Amino acid sequence: MTATATGDEWWRRAVIYQVYPRSFQDSNGDGIGDLPGLIDRLDYLNDGTPGSLGIDAIWLSPTFPSPMKDFGYDVSDYLGVAAEFGDLETMDRLLAECHSRDIRVLLDYVPNHTSDQHPWFLEARASRDNPKRDWYVWRDAKPDGSRPNNWRSAFGGPAWTFDEATGQYYLHSFLKEQPDLNWRNPGVVQAMHDVLRFWLDRGVDGFRIDVMGMIVKHPELADNPPNPNWVPGGSDRMQHLWVNNRNYPDVFEAVRGIRGVLDEYDARVAVGEVFGSAEEIGKFYGEAALNGLHLAFNFQLIHESEPFNRYTPWDATALRRIIENAEAALPPGAQPCYAIANHDRSRFISRNNHDGRGLERARASVILLMALRGTPFVYYGEEIGMTDVEIPDDQLQDPARFRSFGRDPARTPMQWDTSPGRGFTTGRPWLPFGPETINLESQLQQDDSLFALYRRAIWLRKDQESLYRGVFQHIDLDDDVFAFKREWPGARSILVIINTAIEPRSVVLPEGYGQVLLATRREAEGRPVAGSVVLPGLAGMWVARA
Ligand code: NOJ
Repeated sequence: MTATATGDEWWRRAVIYQVYPRSFQDSNGDGIGDLPGLIDRLDYLNDGTPGSLGIDAIWLSPTFPSPMKDFGYDVSDYLGVAAEFGDLETMDRLLAECHSRDIRVLLDYVPNHTSDQHPWFLEARASRDNPKRDWYVWRDAKPDGSRPNNWRSAFGGPAWTFDEATGQYYLHSFLKEQPDLNWRNPGVVQAMHDVLRFWLDRGVDGFRIDVMGMIVKHPELADNPPNPNWVPGGSDRMQHLWVNNRNYPDVFEAVRGIRGVLDEYDARVAVGEVFGSAEEIGKFYGEAALNGLHLAFNFQLIHESEPFNRYTPWDATALRRIIENAEAALPPGAQPCYAIANHDRSRFISRNNHDGRGLERARASVILLMALRGTPFVYYGEEIGMTDVEIPDDQLQDPARFRSFGRDPARTPMQWDTSPGRGFTTGRPWLPFGPETINLESQLQQDDSLFALYRRAIWLRKDQESLYRGVFQHIDLDDDVFAFKREWPGARSILVIINTAIEPRSVVLPEGYGQVLLATRREAEGRPVAGSVVLPGLAGMWVARA
């Protein structure tokens, strides 16, 4: 099949929902979410009516057998399903149940590293002359006995661990239990392509690809240069610029190879987790956006630069800078891809709550996310206003748990109702619950809940060609109002206005815009407007041409 950027692919219109399987729905009382549980909740995600959330696809964080040192991002068998989540048959059932509801399914492909318990690594570390040795990255110590280079693990500490038995270091960009695969070895490429085919043959619709930009490193594993912005006492992983082990130019050949495998099938999608500037993100789409990833995440609405816990403020100037940069850097045909939350970062409300008004900003973020050009991703629980949950020290689970980066708070179980197990489990949840008041049942009882806003936005978007297909044009209205138009020939033009100040702002509407389609407060919807509107503090709306 030849790939063409027709603009009609399903994923260009889709809203994709990230399920963290451990935390979505437990069906057997072990306190850990699982696939049968998820199947039971599919109607919530999309039952074909506007009473459901209405998403078009789910991305499941890793579901493969794993020692769970990094909760599934340490895969010990790419071709199976972790016993605590189900088995291959349950996965097949999930695919069938999703497809019968028009929900596509993306799995999480983890190509940079395996678990140290993966049979490939067990073989590789058995002896220096094992045929699998070169499937991983092994080096001798330097003559002075020090580590092969200065690379740091993303979780802190050196990226090298010494293997006593065979007398060499192996590379791990994350935990020492996550050895990096050597994508310069053709056997690895072949085996990892076959992993994709295995799942594509089973009917999976695509993949989210873990740390796509890291899989091919500098051929000589050269040291990284010092980071001029690093301050003594700052995170050790920031001491150097990640240029020889991230977004290294050779990685794009591996990207093309992965795209080639997906192109053997119809209508599949690859969305890469990538980090870097808007220009660097743009490169992952390939030449003319035809031979790279279909989508590459832009996380800048969460954090613009490292350290990753310095979050992007909810501020019109920042929003404008981020979106305009992204629009300018992407090659023609490339579709942006934004997330405002995920399993690695603080939840939206919590990181925007310095004045207690995080929920209002979350409402405005829906107005933004669902109107931007691109494929929006929604992290489970964001739609019901879940917040970071403080985890007592003795219940911490995340291996990357040092204070600035612990990810447990944003991974707590979905809160469906007010029952002791929150509708999530009949047992003891693997992480503690958040406040009882935050749950789906209560959202459904409220007249104008965050969930209701998500639902309206997602369903409205499906009918507005200018939103899922149209061009983006920024409009200057007020320093505190992020405003843009979305337009497509023959479709209704939509103006999006978002006041990020806490005081009201009066804005003069461009000619012709007269009907409020969606607003942070439902009472404003449906109203005719003309000339100018007063946007309350932190409010936003979609205004259609009358
Ligand atoms: C990025 C994933 O999102 C994160 O959760 C994981 O720990 C690392 N990659 C390593 O796989």
